[in-house]
Amino acid sequence: MDVTLSVQRHNPDANPATWWQDYTVTVPDHATVLDALLAVRDEQDESLTVRCSCRSHICGSCVMRIDGRSALGCKTKVAEALRRGGAEGRVRVQPAGNMAVLKDLAVDLEGFFGKVRAVQPWLQPVGPEPEREYLVPNEAMLRVRDAMACILCGACVSACNSLEVDDRFLGPAALAKAWRFTEDPRDGHDRDRLEFLSSVPGGIWDCTHCFACVEVCPKDVKPMERIIELRRRAMDAGFTDNNGARHSQAFRDTIAHSGWLDETKVAVRSVRGPDELLDWVGVGARSFLRGKVPLRHKAIPGALRVTAIVSAAERTAAGSARGGAAAGAAPHGAPGHGPGSGGGSGA
Ligand code: SF4
Ligand code: SF4
Ligand code: FES
Repeated sequence: MDVTLSVQRHNPDANPATWWQDYTVTVPDHATVLDALLAVRDEQDESLTVRCSCRSHICGSCVMRIDGRSALGCKTKVAEALRRGGAEGRVRVQPAGNMAVLKDLAVDLEGFFGKVRAVQPWLQPVGPEPEREYLVPNEAMLRVRDAMACILCGACVSACNSLEVDDRFLGPAALAKAWRFTEDPRDGHDRDRLEFLSSVPGGIWDCTHCFACVEVCPKDVKPMERIIELRRRAMDAGFTDNNGARHSQAFRDTIAHSGWLDETKVAVRSVRGPDELLDWVGVGARSFLRGKVPLRHKAIPGALRVTAIVSAAERTAAGSARGGAAAGAAPHGAPGHGPGSGGGSGA
């Protein structure tokens, strides 16, 4: 099969501009986009920089954007990319997003791994070490198994809309990793972790729920769902003195009260006090001028039914949280499960 790859190239050391370069190459029908890129490099242009190692979607090195979508080059078949709408028989290949380009398809991963390190992705047990190994209920490990499958490829980070506008955001990969350790019954520092994640600039409250990370993750880690769970756990643990938690509570309260969102009330209640509110006066004025702030907020007809739906949803959520706790882990740091090895590991 012949395929034309349009590759976005960049060599910042030599030239600040990026350019597109087309390569037509013959590859087997089962070839992946990475196979095609390596064929280009071997046969046509050895200056093309591609990062890869396992070629089996295990090592996480070959993340790139293929026709605009973040993906592993070694997991995306050329034929599949062409079927999905490669323009005129071409496959467009770009470096991963939200990371600086070092050269061509190789991006700088320093910031990415720095954020992963910031959530302390290792077990921190408390208390006496067991004589032998930790005993962990199967259910508890099954619960974290999917998150442990993360290969730190960065596809989620490449696709994250929040990171596009705020580089401080810890991002989906680091937060999914943080979730995995707050959920591990051997770890004794889940409260410290939740406090950090609630209060650090760019923590759990900066996700916009856009689902992009869930859609592109090659290992089905579902980072956004982990972030939502971290928020719930942080609020349940009492870490509510922050704008994110206030915003979430105000959002819920106004809908339960009037059946729809009272944006003015949500904005006012999301901030700590009048001083902080002053910072938002400009945004409020612009929103008002664009008709985004209704002058009067009235309850919708049938608001009571919405209130009943909110209450039912909360009862269901509380029930499943109790069920999950009963079926899953022992309390964090509980005797027999928590304290221990002094520096164990974990994926
Ligand atoms: S969560 Fe998924 S997309 Fe993100 S780094 Fe891990 S494996 Fe890659
Ligand atoms: S859901 Fe949140 S973490 Fe995931 S890509 Fe969107 S903003 Fe980023
Ligand atoms: S080369 Fe290892 S994940 Fe693609």
